[in-house]
Amino acid sequence: MRVATLLVLAVAASAAASDADWWQTALIYQIYPRSFKDSDGDGIGDLNGITEKLPYLQQLGVDAIWLSPIYLSPMYDFGYDITNYTKIAPEYGTMEDFDNLMAKAKALGIRVVLDYVPNHTGNESEWFIKSAQREAGYENYYIWADGTPDPNDASTTLPPNNWVSNFRKSAWEYSTTRGQYYLHQFAIGQPDLNYREAKVQEEMKNVLRFWLDKGVSGFRVDAINMMYEVDPNDYGGVYPDEPLSGDEDAAADDYNYLSHIYTRDLNETYNVVYDWRDLLDEYYMTDGEYKIMMTEAYTELTLMIRYYGTDTRNGSIPFNFSFLENIKNNSNARDMKLVIDKWMTYMPNGKTANWVNGNHDQSRVASRQGSDRVDAMNLLALLLPGVALTYQGEEIGMLDGEVTWEQTVDPQACNTDDPINYWKKSRDPNRTPYQWDSSAHAGFSTTTGDTWLPVASNYRTLNLAAQMAAEKSHYKFYKDVLAVRKLPAVRAGDLETTVISESVLVVSRLLPGYPGVVGIVNLSDEEYHLDLTSIKLLPVQMRVVASGVDCPHKKDEWMRKSNITVTAHCALLLQTVRKCC
Ligand code: NOJ
Ligand code: MG
Repeated sequence: MRVATLLVLAVAASAAASDADWWQTALIYQIYPRSFKDSDGDGIGDLNGITEKLPYLQQLGVDAIWLSPIYLSPMYDFGYDITNYTKIAPEYGTMEDFDNLMAKAKALGIRVVLDYVPNHTGNESEWFIKSAQREAGYENYYIWADGTPDPNDASTTLPPNNWVSNFRKSAWEYSTTRGQYYLHQFAIGQPDLNYREAKVQEEMKNVLRFWLDKGVSGFRVDAINMMYEVDPNDYGGVYPDEPLSGDEDAAADDYNYLSHIYTRDLNETYNVVYDWRDLLDEYYMTDGEYKIMMTEAYTELTLMIRYYGTDTRNGSIPFNFSFLENIKNNSNARDMKLVIDKWMTYMPNGKTANWVNGNHDQSRVASRQGSDRVDAMNLLALLLPGVALTYQGEEIGMLDGEVTWEQTVDPQACNTDDPINYWKKSRDPNRTPYQWDSSAHAGFSTTTGDTWLPVASNYRTLNLAAQMAAEKSHYKFYKDVLAVRKLPAVRAGDLETTVISESVLVVSRLLPGYPGVVGIVNLSDEEYHLDLTSIKLLPVQMRVVASGVDCPHKKDEWMRKSNITVTAHCALLLQTVRKCC
């Protein structure tokens, strides 16, 4: 099998290896605090639990942790419904616990990135309560609209228009206090803020300042493309109905039933992101640490790319969800190459790529793609240029847990009202507690009751302790790859992706003057004998530096470029001894 396609992409080719700043090559580990580690035995993960596990994360080699929301919240959407952005949820701990976490993380060289949720607050927020009461100054903090007359019942009204929530059903909820409806693009308890109100913009900037003053290294920004809705003044004073999408699988209550032309991806959004970038850069100027900003928008690539910035303004790193959306369990090496090359091609010159393998909203890699692709997907995310994001548990290849309808708590699943098909929408299975060891509750909690979500039943065999003890494991492979990630060739080398066969993808990272690295993934059930002589810049001899669970190779074994055997599902990382090129 020979080279079918070859593309060399220059990645900061001119930059010396050491010039890449921390954020441009960071491995960011996402912690879902509720499910990481429970320190006080209440069945819910917490800040002290995270602090306790920081040494593990340091040993693993993570550069930064991103914490899903830790703020005061009634937890209708598990912290994405925020009562107060500058207070800590009591079940997660206190501000002192947070300060302690920050100090420990700093001592261990781990940066802390927080979740920032600008689109909506929680309905227990003081801002919302004041706005509902029309308190002076707060009237326009949220999106309020009058109902439409109900033709069948003069005593009541219907919602202002046909807009549907991401979690199903009308996106409008009536407030008896105010006598109007408010918009919630997610749960009823998540009223949308109004970014056409200057005071809201200022309040939310103050939230950024509060946490930056505490020394955080940046933010992950939630649901950014939902931030603006059209201005009713442009539509005769009303919020217009959205047109039907034509999606035949969608029922009238489903989000996909409509085409969201008035509630998503509005132009105004980008400027707010660029303004936040400027604010973050003020801190960069004073404390010398660049503050990262990553934005979450499930949208078209061309719209996503605009978050990076313009010719005159800097923006964010838009999450690259193409691994989640475009790589399936039957994707072959060509499919994967295309997915990688597409992002690198669309990304504006000089910007930082990123690779997301999972998060708390998506089915886990092992469940989505099969356990035999865990090493391959981790290797790709870690070896490609830019930022890599690992969701907690992906380093050990956790599978989605089993959560019955009775145990289901995710509002997106509960809102289906469907005890049979709820699982199609449920995010609970990918949020089950981290599997530390084979003891009760997988070592996550000492509770004598239930944990907030059940621990996956496979925890006795699939857990970190077992993988640390095993000769080979997903964990050991991940850790070995992460160690190699610190090399100059991975930080600043050129990227070359080569399809060797339908099933074998080779990713090389080469930097003149430094040893290069080469990742090989075999996606099939068959063994392949490879000849990589067509990759001209690779030296003849290479050394194994990481060998996946399905590879017989040992670390430090030598390989000849012209004769490399990769067994079924083997993911392998090689390092050249000679300097490139
Ligand atoms: C995206 C978050 O990742 C998800 O968990 C949440 O439900 C919605 N945004 C609403 O905040
Ligand atoms: Mg707890």
